[in-house]
Amino acid sequence: AFQVKIAGTGQVLDVAPNQSISDALEENAIFVPVSCEEGVCGTCLTNVISGEIEHRDVFLSKKEREEGKQILTCCSRAKNAGGLIEL
Ligand code: FES
Repeated sequence: AFQVKIAGTGQVLDVAPNQSISDALEENAIFVPVSCEEGVCGTCLTNVISGEIEHRDVFLSKKEREEGKQILTCCSRAKNAGGLIEL
């Protein structure tokens, strides 16, 4: 599991191993639009303030991955268990 922090509200959410960030957000009544849920369409693209990301999508370019400023919340995760991604 890892955590996601919502910068706007200071809320910190747990994301379980079997759960996507989109699911964790939705469970906490924060709705991010999703469509393909496979990292293809880019609908769930969200800005990242900080945190190390394991990109599991095929939407971002290599440069965008390296910059680490955006995440596809339907499939990508924190790089490390116990990591924190601030959105
Ligand atoms: Fe399509 Fe996330 S919903 S990339």
